[in-house]
Parts: sequence; structure tokens; C-alpha cells
Amino acid sequence: MTLIDTLNRPLRDLRISVTDRCNFRCVYCMPREIFGPDHQFLHRDKILTFEEITRLSRVFVAHGVRKIRLTGGEPLVRKDFPGLIAMLASIPDLDLTLTTNGSMLPKFAGALKDAGLKRVTVSLDSLDNKIFKSMNDVDFPVEKVLEGMDAAAEAGLGPIKVNMVVKRGVSESSILPMARFFREKGYILRFIEYMDVGNSNGWRMDDVLPVSEILKMIGAEMPLEPLDPNYHGEVAGRWRYKDGRGEIGMIASVTQAFCRDCNRARLSAEGKLYTCLFAIKGHDLRALLRDGASDDELSQEIARVWNKRADRYSEIRSENTIALPKVEMSHIGG
Ligand code: GTP
Ligand code: 5AD
Ligand code: SF4
Ligand code: SF4
Repeated sequence: MTLIDTLNRPLRDLRISVTDRCNFRCVYCMPREIFGPDHQFLHRDKILTFEEITRLSRVFVAHGVRKIRLTGGEPLVRKDFPGLIAMLASIPDLDLTLTTNGSMLPKFAGALKDAGLKRVTVSLDSLDNKIFKSMNDVDFPVEKVLEGMDAAAEAGLGPIKVNMVVKRGVSESSILPMARFFREKGYILRFIEYMDVGNSNGWRMDDVLPVSEILKMIGAEMPLEPLDPNYHGEVAGRWRYKDGRGEIGMIASVTQAFCRDCNRARLSAEGKLYTCLFAIKGHDLRALLRDGASDDELSQEIARVWNKRADRYSEIRSENTIALPKVEMSHIGG
């Protein structure tokens, strides 16, 4: 049964954050001043078990969800993460995918594929170690992330997608080198406009480099032409190099909002259901689960939340909304 919200949008995509921890400290997501050594991460008892995640996933799938994306924090820091993939892979007709920073893929790619994962998206903001460090604030070589992508490709987790967050004046100079490199590799590079998610990254409109400028920059050297979306409501605008050598994606979350077709729900590691990346409040499904709710009751609660959904933050972003309290990206994933 398809659920429809107040703006006539179905529920199709579920993003599940499996941990709020990460081994990186990206300045736009988990800035070190806030996520330092004293930061209190969620206690183990508070995060959903693999059984709870799988049970909820089945209920969501019965409501029409066709894609589940595992996110974090960094999903691979969760103990026995491939075990969760194996449990979710038993759900039929599901596109089961993962967003990761790639640092642990050399170790886990094979196990993830064997467990039933279909494909991966790896975040990488630059090929230059100095710029990479200025974005992720740790000492982790670019080379290792590239090894992770290659391990995933070899394991059969392709087509590999790469997410690059573009921050004006910080990673701008990495746009062309990244485009050239991944065009040769055959991985799909996607440029993401820097967003005002959470309350800790000190976002300013001046830090956003609009996709229109990125397209101009790349197109001047490597001519591009638009492609049709793979499916209705696809987040990334698709472009192909005119010489036929590869594809890139443009995620214009700030300058060309895509709320109109947003069919995504998000489940935090502690079991809260969010109906927008910029939500202030989640709906506690963990309490229901742990109070002994039946599948029917869980299903009704999800339907109740989705039916009254009216979120369209990116379309109404303004000076006034930027300062509103919001959930952190590391709590609900990308
Ligand atoms: P596939 O098409 O399945 O490969 O994935 P996708 O396009 O949904 O890509 P992915 O989940 O990797 O999303 C890419 C990035 O787009 C995320 O990391 C976010 O930064 C941004 N994004 C995804 N969904 C939303 C959304 O609902 N709202 C906003 N504002 N940004 C989003
Ligand atoms: N703006 C845009 N993208 C972001 N991501 C994390 N925080 C932000 C932000 N403020 C991206 C990450 C990763 C995905 C999970 O979301 O780089 O690719
Ligand atoms: Fe970690 Fe990803 Fe957030 Fe960076 S963007 S801190 S890699 S969860
Ligand atoms: Fe969906 Fe909210 Fe993003 Fe708009 S801002 S696309 S409603 S998650």
C-alpha cells in the first residue's frame, strides 16, 4: 500500500543511520570543536539492534519503500555491519545501498558483497591530501579512500558513485582534478552544494558554489550534455561528457531545491523517524518497538506520520530558517 503525504508525495526511499559515530571530523558535518573527545555519543542501549532495524525495514517495505540506504555517521564503524546487510538482504525487491567515507572499504568490500549489498556511494571531497584534510580534519590519505573504491568495484559493488561536497574557496580548486580523474576511472562523480544541515557547521550562503557555476567550469574543458533521470525524483541531475566518456551528477540542494518529488524518510540510529533532512523533531519508533507494539501498530504510526508530512525545507530556506534548531547530519545520514 502506497502512502501519500499532504503534497502528494509517496514514500519510496528509507535512509537508515546505524551509528552517530565516525572516524572522520568533516568540518561541515562533525566539526571537532563540537564533536571532540568529550562529546557524548549515543549509548549502545539507545541504538536500534539489527533485529529492530530489520523489523522496521520490513514494515516500511510493506508501505512501498523500494530503496534502503544505510548511512551514519560512518556505517562501517558499527560492529558486524555486514551482519546487518545479510539480514536486510533477505527482504525481497529492495535496492540495498550504502553511503560510506570509504576508509574501511578495503577491509569490508568483499564481506559486504557476500552479505547481499547491491552498490555503494563513497564520499570524497578532494584528491589533494591537504584539501582533503581541511575538509575532514583527520590524517587519512586520499590514496586509501581510492583503494576502498577500487575494492568495492572489484567486489562487484558498482557502478561506484562518488559524493563531493563543494565549499566555495575550500574545495573549489578540486573540482576539475576530480572530474578528470573519475572520468578516467569510470566512477560517477556527484557534486553536492554545501548545505545548512544541523546547527554546528556555521553555514553561510557565501560558502555555496552553485551547481550552475560548477557545470560551466567543467563544460569549458570537457563539454557536457544533460541526460534523462534514471527514475522519477532522482536527487542528482545527470550529465554526460559529449565525447561519451562517462557521466557526472549535480546535486543542487540549495540553488534548485528538489522537495517537490522528495520521497525520502530517515530513521536515526536511536530509532526516530524524520520526514526531512532539516527536521527539528523526529517520531520515536524505538519506544513503540520496546513497548511491545505489533507490526500493525508500527505500520499505523508510520502511516500517520507520513500522511501529515508537509516538509519542503529547501524550497522555503531563508535567513529565518537557517537559524532554526535542526537535527545533525551525523544523526540522520545524508
Ligand atoms: P542513488 O540515486 O540511489 O544513487 O542515490 P541518491 O542520488 O539518493 O544519492 P545519495 O543518497 O548518495 O544522496 C546524495 C546526497 O544528496 C546526500 O548525501 C545529500 O547530501 C543529498 N541529499 C540526498 N537526499 C536529500 C534530500 O532529501 N534533501 C536534501 N536537501 N539533500 C539530499
Ligand atoms: N552539505 C552537503 N553535503 C553534506 N554531507 C554531509 N554534510 C553535508 C552538508 N552540510 C554529505 C557527505 C556525504 C553525505 C552523507 O552527505 O559528504 O557524502
Ligand atoms: Fe563522517 Fe561522513 Fe560526517 Fe564526514 S560527512 S564526518 S565522513 S559522517
Ligand atoms: Fe526532502 Fe526536506 Fe530535502 Fe526537501 S529539504 S528534498 S523535503 S529532505
